[in-house]
Amino acid sequence: MASSTASISDPEAWKDLKGHVEDIKKTHLRDLMTDANRCQSMMMEFDGLLLDYSRQRATVETVDKLLNLAKAAQLTEKISRMFNGEHINSTENRSVLHVALRAPKDAVIKADGKNVVPEVWNVLDKIKEFSEKIRSGSWVGATGKPLKDVIAIGIGGSFLGPLFVHTALQTDPEALESAKGRQLRFLANIDPVDVARNINGLNPETTLVVVVSKTFTTAETMLNARTLREWITAALGASAVAKHMVAVSTNLALVEKFGIDPNNAFAFWDWVGGRYSVCSAVGVLPLSLQYGFSVVEKFLKGASSIDQHFQSTPIEKNIPVLLGLLSVWNVSFLGYPARAILPYSQALEKFAPHIQQVSMESNGKGVSIDGLPLPFETGEIDFGEPGTNGQHSFYQLIHQGRVIPCDFIGIVKSQQPVYLKGEVVSNHDELMSNFFAQPDALAYGKTPEQLQKENVSENLIPHKTFSGNRPSLSLLLLELTAYNVGQLLAIYEHRVAVQGFVWGINSFDQWGVELGKVLATHVRKQLHSSRTQGTTLEGFNYSTTTLLKRYLETSSEPQM
Ligand code: F6P
Repeated sequence: MASSTASISDPEAWKDLKGHVEDIKKTHLRDLMTDANRCQSMMMEFDGLLLDYSRQRATVETVDKLLNLAKAAQLTEKISRMFNGEHINSTENRSVLHVALRAPKDAVIKADGKNVVPEVWNVLDKIKEFSEKIRSGSWVGATGKPLKDVIAIGIGGSFLGPLFVHTALQTDPEALESAKGRQLRFLANIDPVDVARNINGLNPETTLVVVVSKTFTTAETMLNARTLREWITAALGASAVAKHMVAVSTNLALVEKFGIDPNNAFAFWDWVGGRYSVCSAVGVLPLSLQYGFSVVEKFLKGASSIDQHFQSTPIEKNIPVLLGLLSVWNVSFLGYPARAILPYSQALEKFAPHIQQVSMESNGKGVSIDGLPLPFETGEIDFGEPGTNGQHSFYQLIHQGRVIPCDFIGIVKSQQPVYLKGEVVSNHDELMSNFFAQPDALAYGKTPEQLQKENVSENLIPHKTFSGNRPSLSLLLLELTAYNVGQLLAIYEHRVAVQGFVWGINSFDQWGVELGKVLATHVRKQLHSSRTQGTTLEGFNYSTTTLLKRYLETSSEPQM
C-alpha cells in the first residue's frame, strides 16, 4: 500500500500554492471576471449540470497548481482504491463502498474479494417487494387496516440523508403523485418532544415504524424505538409489533433481540458509513414506502451517474475533484474556515443540514490517516439555508463581515411553477433573479467612488461600501427530480472525500463523537441512582455537580 499523505504540506506543490497566495491577494474578482477566457475555462458541464467556479479567488494558474497538489496527494490512486474496495477506512479496517449501493445490476464492485453488487440488489429487490405490499394495502396492520403512515426512527446518518431526499421530493410532481394519501415522518431526537410531534395525529393501527440504525445500539434511536414499540403495543397488543415494526441495520442479531422479525429487517454492510448510507436501505426503504421504488431508483441512477463521472473523468474535468480542490484552496491557503451552502430551492432546505454531517463528521480531524498531528486545519464549518430566506438572515455578514465562500445552487425548471398575470416575471424567475445577482454582489461589491456618484451622503459611504472579492461558485441543475437529487448528493459526497484525500486524513471514521457518549453514560447512571436511591452526586466537577443538583432538585421527572 502506498504511503499516505501525512505530510501533504511538505511537497513542492503545497509550498507552491502557499507562495501563490500572495499573487492572488493582489487580484480582485472585479478584474478577474473581465477575462472571458479564464471564465470559460472555469465552466464545467456534465449530464445536464453546469458548474461555474469563475467567481473563486483563483486564476488558471491556481487551478494548475491545485491539480499538481492533487497529483502530489496521489488523488487519482486514492479514488481508485476507494472504488476497488481497499480498506481505506484504516482505523475501522473497512472498505468505503457507498458507490456500490447505486451501481447498476451488472456492475462488479468487490469488497474483500467478493462482488457486493448482487447483495445490494437482493436488498433493493426485497425493498421493492415490501414497499409495494405496504403501498398496495396487501400488507395490513394488526386490525386489518392498510399502513398509510410511516415513522422512520434514526439519527445522524440514519436520518439526515433520508430527510434531505424526502424533503426534496415532496414537491416533485411525479413523487407527489405517488405519495398521495401517505405520510413519512422522521423521529431522531431523544427529546420526548420529538416523539410527541411524530405521533401527533397518527393512529398506531395505520402506522408502520421503521427503526433505522447501522449499529442498532445508538442510545437515542433505541430508546425512541422502545417508546414507539410501547405506543403500538399499548394500543394493539404485543403481537402487533410483527406487523407494525421493521428495521434497517447491519446488526441483524440485535434487530431480532429487539423483537423485530428478521424477515422484516433490511440489511446493509459495514462498508457503508452512516453518513454515506442514504442510498442503502437506510434511505431507500422509507423513501420507497412513501414514493414507490421506481422514483427512488431514479435517485440511485442520478447518484450512479456522478459516481461514474468521478471514477473515470480526468481530474481537470472532474466536477467533484475540482470542487474538492477549490475547498482545500479556500480552507488551507486562503484561510476561510467556513462554507455556505445556499440552494435557491425550498425543496433543498434539508440539504445543508445533511452536508453538515457528511462534511464535518468526515473531515473535522486533527491527525493524518497515519495518526500524526496535522500542521494545518482540516474540514470547514458548513452551514446554509435556502435562498432567498438566507438573504434576510445571515447574508449581511457574508457581504460586509467575514469572507465565507458560498455555493449557490440553482434549478432551471421549478417543481411547482407559478405565473401571476400582471407580474413582471414568474415566481421562479423572481427567485432565480436573486440566484444570479448574489454571486456578482459578492464578487464585485460596491466602491466608495460608485457611492459618491450616486450622491450618497459622506457619513453613510463607509456603511454602504461593499469590499467585494468574496468567492462563490454556482451550480445550475436543469430540474429537481429524483435523478437530480441523486446527482447533487453524490457530487457533495465525493467532494468531501477529495478534500480528505488531499489533506491525507481518514474521512470515513468518526472517533470524535465517542467521548461525549461515554460521559453521558456516567450521567445517566448517576441520574438513575439519585432518583431511585437518593445517591449523592459523585465524580463530577464543581460546575457539573451544581448543574446536576439544580436539575435533580427542581425537575418533576417521574421517579423510575
Ligand atoms: O453520531 C455518530 C454516529 O455514529 C453517526 O456517524 C451515525 O450516522 C449516527 O451516529 C447513527 O448511528 P446508527 O446508524 O448506528 O444508529
